[in-house]
Amino acid sequence: MASFNSSSSTITTFKFHFGAFLLLVGVASAQLASNFYGTSCPSVLSVIKSAVDSAVSNEARMGASLLRLHFHDCFVNGCDASVLLDGGEKTAPANTNSLRGFEVIDSIKTQLESSCPGVVSCADILSVAARDSVVALGGPSWQVQLGRRDSATAGSVSDVNNNVPSPALSVSGLISAFSNKGFTAKEMVALSGSHTIGQARCTTFLTRINNETNIDSSFKTSTQAQCQNTNNFVPLDVTSPTSFDSAYYRNLLNQKGLLHSDQQLFSGGSTDAQVRAYSSNQAAFRTDFANAMIKMGNLSPLTGTNGQIRTNCRKAN
Ligand code: HEM
Repeated sequence: MASFNSSSSTITTFKFHFGAFLLLVGVASAQLASNFYGTSCPSVLSVIKSAVDSAVSNEARMGASLLRLHFHDCFVNGCDASVLLDGGEKTAPANTNSLRGFEVIDSIKTQLESSCPGVVSCADILSVAARDSVVALGGPSWQVQLGRRDSATAGSVSDVNNNVPSPALSVSGLISAFSNKGFTAKEMVALSGSHTIGQARCTTFLTRINNETNIDSSFKTSTQAQCQNTNNFVPLDVTSPTSFDSAYYRNLLNQKGLLHSDQQLFSGGSTDAQVRAYSSNQAAFRTDFANAMIKMGNLSPLTGTNGQIRTNCRKAN
């Protein structure tokens, strides 16, 4: 009897610990879900959307800047808002004097901290703001999965150098940079279509414009004229810089890619056919872009009990 009691209590203890263990594992590896804030912060999507809409109507380029913030966040240690922390990633050459939109994220965060304190992560704000930016500029929509948490530490400068693709890459370098994150070459071409909006500093593309031969001559002359002052900015999509469309791919067919890496996608290599396909099929581009953005937003999120919900997106709690 004594032995029965003892084994029964062992079993009970085991069941309790095993259950608690499963709960912990379940919470720690929780999946993202589109209704994550359904009861904890029901206004989250409308707060972000109105802030993004007003920022983009104030300055169309802000939509591009917010989209790029999410990309640079997700490619360095996953979508954990590490890019927003002062110091660290922000100071890498790819980001410094280049990333923008931090104030828009701060203002959304302030509003959400007042309506739902300590609930909505900076990483989720970035992901929704990227989607709303694309929509505000006429691009496709998609359902953003939510429940990412924020990291307490930023990545390093070398994390950025090793993970954010450089505009100097060749087509095979671009394919492998995206394949390291689990993307196919086709998805890389679709995501590069982000350069249908936004601008680049002359210093990031002047070497191509001045020296490469796969470039339209009038595009070359007009771009050089806009870069008399090398601190200037030039639209990445010369045709329709504030509209999220497939003109970017038609520009590539016409040798009007601004960055070296853009024109590499149509330069006699393995991605030429996909560029041609998107150039004449905007619907396919929209669908593939939306799906690739969902996939990008799923890169190694912190979920469950990992990470934290930062009160201030620029600082760990
Ligand atoms: C394929 C590899 C990529 C390379 C080499 C690349 C490189 C660059 C460079 C050099 C700039 C200009 C930065 C500056 O001059 O300050 C830029 C701008 C931009 N990139 Fe990319 N990028 C790539 C992929 C992506 C992806 C995947 C996205 C989004 C999902 C993206 C979104 C943007 C946007 C929207 C801008 C304009 C930002 C603004 O106007 O503020 N890029 N990119």
